[in-house]
Amino acid sequence: MSALIDVGGVRKRFGEHEVLAGIDLVVPEGETIALIGPSGGGKSTLLRCINGLANFDQGRIQVGACTLHPTRDPRESRAAARDARKLVGMVFQDFQLFPHMTALENVAEAPIHVRGLPRREAHERARALLARVGLEARADALPRELSGGQKQRVAIARALAMEPKALLCDEITSALDPELKGEVLSVIEKLRAEGMTLVLVTHEIGFARRAADRAAVLADGAIVESGPARELIDRPQTERTRRFLERVMA
Ligand SMILES: Nc1ncnc2c1ncn2[C@@H]1O[C@H](COP(=O)(O)OP(=O)(O)O)[C@@H](O)[C@H]1O
Ligand SMILES: [Mg+2]
Repeated sequence: MSALIDVGGVRKRFGEHEVLAGIDLVVPEGETIALIGPSGGGKSTLLRCINGLANFDQGRIQVGACTLHPTRDPRESRAAARDARKLVGMVFQDFQLFPHMTALENVAEAPIHVRGLPRREAHERARALLARVGLEARADALPRELSGGQKQRVAIARALAMEPKALLCDEITSALDPELKGEVLSVIEKLRAEGMTLVLVTHEIGFARRAADRAAVLADGAIVESGPARELIDRPQTERTRRFLERVMA
C-alpha cells in the first residue's frame, strides 16, 4: 500500500515549549490508525498540522501529492493548506456545526461555497450522505434539535461531503454520553470497512484495539511506540505506554 500521509521530522514549538519534537508517521492508504497518549502530548496539534490548520517549524508533511513544509511565503502556505484540506477532512470533539443551519445545509455548505457545486446537486448528495450516517430522517433538523451523537454524525457527513481521501478524527466521542458513543463509533467502523483512511485520536482504548489496524502512542511531543493496535495495547513495550494505558483503563 502506498503512503497517503507521510509525516517526516516534524517539529513545532509554542514559545519555549516544544509541542512536536520530531514526528515521523506514515499512514498507508486504507489504514486505520489510532493515535493515543496522555493529554497535552501533542495529538491535536499533529492532526491540525496534517490538515493544514496549523503550521510547523521543521520537517515536512506529504498528503497525497501535496507537500506541507515551513515557508515564509503566506500565499504558498495558504495554497498548500487548501490542497491538504481537500484530501483530508477533520472531525472535532465539539462538532463545530453551523448552529443556524439545518443538518442538510451543514453538509451541503462546503460543496456549494468551496467547490461551486449547484445547490440542487449539493443538497441531493448531502441527503445521501446523511443516509450513510443513518440520519436521513433528520435532514431538516437544526443542531440544537439533535442529540450529541446525531450532531457528531452530521459532522462526519459534512467532512465526507468534500470527498476526502482520509478523515482525521480528534476525540470525536469524548463529549458524548456513553450510550451515544456507540452510534458514532459504528459509523467509523463502517467507513473503515469501506476502505477510508482514518486517523483516530481516541481515549476509547477498547475501540482502538478492536477497530484500528495500528496504534501509535504520542507523549511529550514524540511517538514513543507504534505497532499493530491489538499487540501494542495488550503488550506495550515501553514504560511510558504502560503507564498511560494503566491510567486510562483503570
Ligand atoms: N495555540 C497554542 N498556544 C500555546 N500552546 C499550545 C497551543 N495549542 C496547544 N498548546 C500546547 O501544546 C501542547 C500539546 O497540546 P495538544 O496538541 O492539544 O495535545 P493533546 O491533543 O495530545 O492533548 C499542550 O501543552 C498545549 O498546552
Ligand atoms: Mg487534543
